[in-house]
Amino acid sequence: MTGAFYVTTPIYYVNAEPHIGHTYTTVVVDTLARYHRMAGEPTFFLTGTDEHGEKVAEVAEQRGETPTAVADRYSKAFRSTWDELGFSYDRFIRTTDPDHVAMVQLILQKVYDAGEIYFQEYEGLYCVGCERFLTERDMADGLCRDHDRAPERRKESNYFFRIAKHFNWLSDTIEKHPDFIRPPGFRKETLAMLREESGLGDLCISRPKDRLSWGIELPFDGDYVCYVWFDALINYLTAVGYPDGPDFERLWGAAEHVIGKDILKPHAIFWPILLRVIGAPLFRHLNVHGHWNVDKRKVSKSLGNMISPLAMKQRYGFDAFRYVLLRDMVFGLDANFTEAGLVARINADLANNLGNLVSRTLNMTARYSGGRVPQPGAPDDLENEIAEAAPRTAAQVDRHLRRCEVSRALEAIFGFLDGVNRYLETRAPWKAARDGGEEAKRLVSTSLYTACEALRVTALMIAPFLPATAPAILERLGIPGALEGARLPDDVARWGVLAPGTPTVKGPALFPRIEPPAEDA
Ligand code: MSP
Repeated sequence: MTGAFYVTTPIYYVNAEPHIGHTYTTVVVDTLARYHRMAGEPTFFLTGTDEHGEKVAEVAEQRGETPTAVADRYSKAFRSTWDELGFSYDRFIRTTDPDHVAMVQLILQKVYDAGEIYFQEYEGLYCVGCERFLTERDMADGLCRDHDRAPERRKESNYFFRIAKHFNWLSDTIEKHPDFIRPPGFRKETLAMLREESGLGDLCISRPKDRLSWGIELPFDGDYVCYVWFDALINYLTAVGYPDGPDFERLWGAAEHVIGKDILKPHAIFWPILLRVIGAPLFRHLNVHGHWNVDKRKVSKSLGNMISPLAMKQRYGFDAFRYVLLRDMVFGLDANFTEAGLVARINADLANNLGNLVSRTLNMTARYSGGRVPQPGAPDDLENEIAEAAPRTAAQVDRHLRRCEVSRALEAIFGFLDGVNRYLETRAPWKAARDGGEEAKRLVSTSLYTACEALRVTALMIAPFLPATAPAILERLGIPGALEGARLPDDVARWGVLAPGTPTVKGPALFPRIEPPAEDA
């Protein structure tokens, strides 16, 4: 596959420090971007911050600061956190960037000129947490379901974008392209919203400046600013230079958005309709994940259970935290995070399975082969099985990742590692080494070579998921540059690349076993 790949995170509101939820979305996108780069596809990974709107204006007012100061501070916090975590984004966009402001105004004018915007008095229930008017379905006992906060009744004159007349077209499009919104539960949810939701009418896209001045001015009425969601979604076009930039041509058709389920409606309904109205092609997929709860409770500032990714990096290393996020959430379902669960997962998969395989393979290579990759004898059935399982696994990973099934991709890789561990148990080179003799020597060399090769291809396969661990394994195998130009999934099929005689390094444990946290032990 050599088609392009354009992948986006949502842009984050600048009213909170990065937490487990933001980190999860970004880890998934980073993994996909790394994978597609290794698949040889010209890849563009976009992330950034969503800085306008009432939420930010509210925080600024509470703190006696300007919205610009608040936005600058939190945007910097996201960016520096993302840098410290090593995310491989190509652009960090801010909705206050001049090219974005110009793009929003260009699109507003275009939609206005097409007669798709009208002016009207409106009354509705507005949730500042969601930054939108709510429908009955969004509420329980008079409170917003997502924010447990009573919406405000608002009555004011505003500009509206005619979206309701496109609902039938959108339903048809979603029906015809079953994987446009995935996994399927969210496709069904979108269709249900379009079918059943009363109050899902045209979209209010303005705020009068006398109530909110923190936003992008409407090009056709200086008394209003643009509604934050209309502004925010457009970031995906700004970054690729809509309508005639070379990147737009090259990348837009390959656009994939990754979002959490709380922002399904703007992405699944408002966004495709806006694209249609401006005559832009639709994005390729909307990939929707569930929510992390922490200790079975919703993540919230007041509970103080947000989980700082930097604290997790410091305590466990970022590859380990990243692994647990990717492995322990089935993409599309909610998941529960506990520190005891994280430790158990790190110990089982990274310390015992992967880490232990690396240590024992390299320890035995040091002991029985003078610290050099041994010269293998002719492979037998067991060796052939491992060599054949490798490309099969790489093909599974490819299939899963192209469907955004990240946890299943990791299950496939760790299933392969289980097989290699079982192989070593069966061959038991440590016993053969004790026995001595020519036949035993050959068995030791062949099995250690097979284990080293299996580690080499494992390092290639895990590189998008564990970007620091993969080169560490390759360095120990004596081939530190092996990731350069490596191609997935194809290179995993090339068995026998590791040259006998290459010096290997034992090194300390990649993932030392961690004592479970005392209170949960
Ligand atoms: N600014 C909007 C997005 C605009 S995109 C054009 C926004 N920002 S956010 O900062 O509130 O959230 C960003 C993402 O983080 C969303 O995808 C959201 O689902 C995700 N998460 C926030 N908390 C979460 C969890 N507890 N678990 C998983 N992801 C969640 O919405």
